[in-house]
Amino acid sequence: MAAIKMERIDRLLSRLGYGSRSDVQVWLRQGLVSIDGKLVKSASQKVNPAEVLLEDQALDHPFGLTVIYHKPLGAVCSHRESGRLIYDDFPARWVDRKPSLSSVGRLDKETSGLLILTDDGQLNHHITSPKNHISRTYAVSLHAPLAGNEAQIFASGKLLLKDDDKPCLPAELSIIDEQHVSVVLHEGRYHQVRRMFAAVGNHVTELCRSHIGALSLESTGLAPGEYLTATVEEVQGMLAGES
Ligand code: URA
Repeated sequence: MAAIKMERIDRLLSRLGYGSRSDVQVWLRQGLVSIDGKLVKSASQKVNPAEVLLEDQALDHPFGLTVIYHKPLGAVCSHRESGRLIYDDFPARWVDRKPSLSSVGRLDKETSGLLILTDDGQLNHHITSPKNHISRTYAVSLHAPLAGNEAQIFASGKLLLKDDDKPCLPAELSIIDEQHVSVVLHEGRYHQVRRMFAAVGNHVTELCRSHIGALSLESTGLAPGEYLTATVEEVQGMLAGES
């Protein structure tokens, strides 16, 4: 097991988004921070994050934060843009955490579905890197009925999207009915599903990411805007279909 990293109390609480270092000094004077029933009095005291109580509450995910989220329609995957942001669905403190909580790739504003967020750079890279073969599956509604050749075109590895210089990797299309399909992608390009259907003369009217690897949105039981937290190991197991 990795050794616990002891950390100054003022740095720890500000890094976890609770407040500024000067806020922490005030809380220490007010006797709000304790370990094992003893008050922590000095901002420079090094502490084990697992043992700290702030107002008698254990700290919120002191060793890292990974979130499985059902992104609703209309929310934007950004820290900065105006309008409804995905981060509005989480405790406000999470936005101020360091390292920061970032989404693993993005879903468009008008796409709903499964999104993972993490402050763990290795997990983010693990999910994003095509080398790890973690697919994404999308449920797609179409404006026009299928022409019939889409599955073959998507699987060909030759579909070149407007403004791209490399063709898309082969993708699998399964037909539900002539205006509803699911598509499995093995890479993540900007607006990829919408652009693939535009390239074959159709238009996506609804898009929902139903799976990342073996993890299905349905299995999480999350309603739009809801989330759950998990450890990095748990998420890796879910993506691999081990739990
Ligand atoms: N493809 C899209 O077009 N949009 C998304 O949000 C994800 C994949």
